Amino acid sequence: MLRLDRWLVTLGIGSRSEVQKLVKKGGVKLDGMPVKDPEMQVDEKSAMLTVNGAAVDGRLTRHVMLHKPAGLLTAARDKKQPTVMDLLPAVYSAIGCMPVGRLDKDTTGLLFLTTDGELNHRLLSPGRHVDKTYLAEVDGVLDASHVAAFAEGLHLSDFDAQPAHLEIVAPHIGRVTVHEGKFHQIKRMFSAVGCEVTKLHRETFGSLVLDPDLPEGEWRELTGDELASLYSDAQMER
Ligand code: URA
Repeated sequence: MLRLDRWLVTLGIGSRSEVQKLVKKGGVKLDGMPVKDPEMQVDEKSAMLTVNGAAVDGRLTRHVMLHKPAGLLTAARDKKQPTVMDLLPAVYSAIGCMPVGRLDKDTTGLLFLTTDGELNHRLLSPGRHVDKTYLAEVDGVLDASHVAAFAEGLHLSDFDAQPAHLEIVAPHIGRVTVHEGKFHQIKRMFSAVGCEVTKLHRETFGSLVLDPDLPEGEWRELTGDELASLYSDAQMER
């Protein structure tokens, strides 16, 4: 339960004074009935909200799978450059839906975003880090020595990357599964074995798999099963 005016402000309908005026002049209906008290308590999980005659999705909890295209920053906002949030309706930012972890600007593929701060934190916390799989195109020819080096764990300038699984998909393409998520990790791992990554695409994040029917730049909400698996990855109750 929360106050109607707070709910409307959080959904980005307007400022506190704007939504109060809107309610008082009858612009807001709950379950089809006009309401006049902006301070009334509302069950935001079940109330059907209408603003100026249009139905509004009032959920404050959202979980999103985005197929990130190259060229966007993974950030909640940026003063100069477009971010992944620009691909979602404004209400997602308004209710605090945030990317979980980061993909580089030129990396494509699976990005998970959620309003659940605890889930976000747990999926990234070092003790619980979930597996992530990337498809990397490189400028060298991959062979068994690279697979062995990844399996051994690589010494990078500021940390030792844990053993990772490298599968050779084609001479210039490797599929890598890592358990951690350090800055530029995949690019730096390949660099350490003499290859530069020319293209990077994330396929999985924990139990979440990029939907093959989701084109680049598109997004959708998670299914109940996908969400249940992610909460289980994070060892959290829903
Ligand atoms: N590792 C990288 O180097 N870049 C990414 O975007 C993700 C993992």
